[in-house]
Amino acid sequence: MPHASDSRQPLVPHTALDADSVRNAYRRWASVYDLVFGGISGWGRRRAAFEVNRLPGTRVLEVGVGTGLALPYYAPDKRITGIDLSVDMLDRARARVATDGLSNVEDLLELDAENTGFAAGRFDIAVGMFVASVVPNPRRLLAELRRVVRPGGHILFVNHFAAKDGPRWWVERAMAPASRALGWHPDFAIDALFAPADAASVQLTAVPPFGLFTLAKLHN
Ligand SMILES: C[S@@+](CC[C@H](N)C(=O)[O-])C[C@H]1O[C@@H](n2cnc3c(N)ncnc32)[C@H](O)[C@@H]1O
Repeated sequence: MPHASDSRQPLVPHTALDADSVRNAYRRWASVYDLVFGGISGWGRRRAAFEVNRLPGTRVLEVGVGTGLALPYYAPDKRITGIDLSVDMLDRARARVATDGLSNVEDLLELDAENTGFAAGRFDIAVGMFVASVVPNPRRLLAELRRVVRPGGHILFVNHFAAKDGPRWWVERAMAPASRALGWHPDFAIDALFAPADAASVQLTAVPPFGLFTLAKLHN
């Protein structure tokens, strides 16, 4: 996924992207996104949706919904609102909803996940899949999700987070030069999303393949 302001157009999302850069980047990627990025990360989407489906409450916000790859996995009783900065990605998600007849998807809106404008406590659950490492300010994203999810609700992320030590640390350092082709940041630190105060209450679950991705769940 490219960085729009970089004339070399690298292929991986960077945490420093601003909103216009995100829109420009995903305008270029929308038509091939599913083909290039849909495969290996499918485990993570299915795992996150499975977890959402088990949680109490029906009002679900998916931030950075993209082309809507996860939308078919939600249970029929969940009422889904998807938001994304990229109208091009949203167009694909809308086409998927129509083609697959996903009547539980209530809204697909062009909104910034860091500043949604939704009323406080509007949702029971918020989920972000492979978006935490793309938004300009991951902690602002988390703060916004804490605001729009009701107290007692849940916030979930699935993402690749860099190992802090051990063999995976070495592997990720070795993989970093290939990150453009891989489509994610091997070195996105979990601390960039969770402040120390959050970290104690986050439940982390490794997701296949090889525990490459992590499902993070917080009780709001
Ligand atoms: C790597 S894609 C992931 C898409 C989808 N969640 C998936 O699993 O395939 C990241 C998505 O986040 C969106 N995005 C990035 N920053 C955003 C923001 N601040 N608000 C809403 N969407 C954002 C991008 O437009 C893109 O569609």
